[in-house]
Amino acid sequence: MKFFIDTANLAQIKEAHDLGILDGVTTNPSLMAKEGIKGQEAILQHYRDICGIVDGPVSAEVLATDFKGIVDEGMKLAALHANIVVKVPMIKEGIKAIKYFSDNDIKTNCTLVFSAGQAIMAAKAGATMVSPFIGRIDDANWDGVQLIEQIVNVYNAQGFMTEVLAASIRSPLHIVKCAEVGADICTCPLSSILGLLNHPLTDIGLAKFLEDAKNL
Ligand code: G3P
Repeated sequence: MKFFIDTANLAQIKEAHDLGILDGVTTNPSLMAKEGIKGQEAILQHYRDICGIVDGPVSAEVLATDFKGIVDEGMKLAALHANIVVKVPMIKEGIKAIKYFSDNDIKTNCTLVFSAGQAIMAAKAGATMVSPFIGRIDDANWDGVQLIEQIVNVYNAQGFMTEVLAASIRSPLHIVKCAEVGADICTCPLSSILGLLNHPLTDIGLAKFLEDAKNL
């Protein structure tokens, strides 16, 4: 399973990259706004900066919701860097645009996916990746990991090449569960990635080793 970081914060992207295990980055308008990035040029420059840190797919989300607007914006984003993946919302116009991008060899990430039916539509249109938001599904009293498993099974049964990118990750356990059911990619906040490192018995064990090492 590939590890992406879900943030537009350059310091956090660098920290995850320095661990040596980072495969890519996802952003969205909320994450960009959180970093205080304002205006078209600043947004484009920020994507260039991210691409300068990580040598892997970087999802850049379109703001338009009509076919022509999505295509125009997506082409501009894709021209920024070879690693840019155009992130398109799961709407009717978005599906048309994903098909257009796929026919023109531009990589896409279909976002805001909450059902297997939506994931099938994204794959039929030729999306490179599909992003089910598992944390938001859990928040609404459904089972996000179960949806990942269902989409993985459908894609395997049908031979779809679209990668399942588990998004809206809230905890290290989400990452483990997504790995267990065969997600291709997990995009996570830095805290969840770092959370995978922790175990109290590791801390206790290391403290004891260091204490005993004083007698060596
Ligand atoms: O990038 C999309 C997704 O990861 C959003 O996560 O925490 O806002 O539900 P969250």
